[in-house]
Amino acid sequence: MITKQKGCHDIYGVEAKRWKYVDKLIDSLMEKYNYSYMRTPLFEASELFHRGIGEASDIVTKETYDFTDRGDRAITLRPEGTAGIVRSYIENKMYGDPIQPVKVYYNGTMYRYERPQSGRDRELTQFGVEVLGCEDAVIDAEVISLAVNFYRLLGLTNVKVQINSLGDEESRKNYRNVLIEYFRPHIDELCEDCKMRFEKNPLRILDCKVDADKPLLKNAPKTIAHLNEVSKKRFEEVLEYLDLLKIDYEVNPNIVRGLDYYQHTVFEFTADIPGMGSQSALGAGGRYNGLVHQLGGPETAGIGFGIGIGRTLLALEKAEIKLPVEEEIDAFILYINDEEKKYATYLAQELRLNGFSVDMEYQNRNLKGQFRQAERLNAKFLLILNSEDLDNNELKIKDARSKEEEIISMDALIYYLDEKLAMDEYISSEEDLEESDCHCHGTCHHDHEHECHSGHNCSCHHHEEN
Ligand code: HAM
Repeated sequence: MITKQKGCHDIYGVEAKRWKYVDKLIDSLMEKYNYSYMRTPLFEASELFHRGIGEASDIVTKETYDFTDRGDRAITLRPEGTAGIVRSYIENKMYGDPIQPVKVYYNGTMYRYERPQSGRDRELTQFGVEVLGCEDAVIDAEVISLAVNFYRLLGLTNVKVQINSLGDEESRKNYRNVLIEYFRPHIDELCEDCKMRFEKNPLRILDCKVDADKPLLKNAPKTIAHLNEVSKKRFEEVLEYLDLLKIDYEVNPNIVRGLDYYQHTVFEFTADIPGMGSQSALGAGGRYNGLVHQLGGPETAGIGFGIGIGRTLLALEKAEIKLPVEEEIDAFILYINDEEKKYATYLAQELRLNGFSVDMEYQNRNLKGQFRQAERLNAKFLLILNSEDLDNNELKIKDARSKEEEIISMDALIYYLDEKLAMDEYISSEEDLEESDCHCHGTCHHDHEHECHSGHNCSCHHHEEN
């Protein structure tokens, strides 16, 4: 048997429904924030990641899937989304677009050659946003709050925002010198990788997983203490906007991030959920003002984040939060003989093209088996065909919920289903209302009592209800 590669997953059944649910949520949230969907290739010239992410970063030195194609080109499967988006931004001259800043999002597959374990995969999916062409602190706060609201909508209310600032170019240079002076007398105490990092990018030493617990690293100088006035003021502004948006955060001076392109604001989203272990980083990001220029474009500000979808779903599982993924279909068509089967085939297409979700019996099982199938598929209505009714241009329809049956004219079927399904929707929203004492009909997602747009007091969090 040929099996899948380590660190990869087959996603199907209920699990696939959970992924789809998250995909839809991302699309609808991004529409509200007015970010446009963007898709870049899964593979790029290796040079892009070397220049973009940084030669000394763990991702580039140890984790990329590199290969030479048949035309002898050095190719890399993308390990993250930012470098590709920035490449495309420059190549397509998006800095000249009339609408600025350019706000985009992506939701796609990335590849990293890591040691696989739960929540750490070789093929992973990231939902990310990038905003190019705006330096204002308000965008830093929008990007961070957007991610927090994404987690909240999923029901994950205990995601912590840890934030830090690396400062501007000048602050980073100062800090780099401070770090070099600090580590120089202790080079021998560092791991082999860190010795290399000391030469290429001493900031990376602070991210080292091997040396992490050594007092030498713990007591290392902190970025915040070496920010120049402009950077300090900017960081304070970001925090003020976060306060305004009621986003809780913790300033963590140890966050320096493993990719070379960051300046100013950097942040991580961590799940405070038992069982997540070392995979509690659900997402991360930061500002990368120098990257567009470094990759050959004009000086352009940039900021974004990447959120691991697999890890986010794992966090939901550990926190025992169920997503509302139960699926129903509008109708299931049953029949007994071949003539009826032909009519069923025609009718299924007619109804589908009229907007109903419909399934049918395909393999002439007995009626008992067909009823069971309809039940498994959660069909709301059963359309039971028999030749006699069909001759009269009629059919039997059974409401799966009330168990009521009636014979109706074939000509009235679409109207009948429309009416009944609209009523069904109304009843179930009323039931939800009773259960949650909520008057917003599922359109708001506050987790505290407030006056919602229907004018009533509402204390709901729909996903928790589910
Ligand atoms: P990153 O911290 O390398 O940042 O990855 C972001 C998130 O992707 C992580 O927090 C984690 O949830 C998920 N992730 C990363 N590696 C794995 C893995 N092997 N298995 C499962 N999930 C993983 C970036 O990628 C930046 N491009 C973020 C960014 C966007 N910065 C600015 N814009």
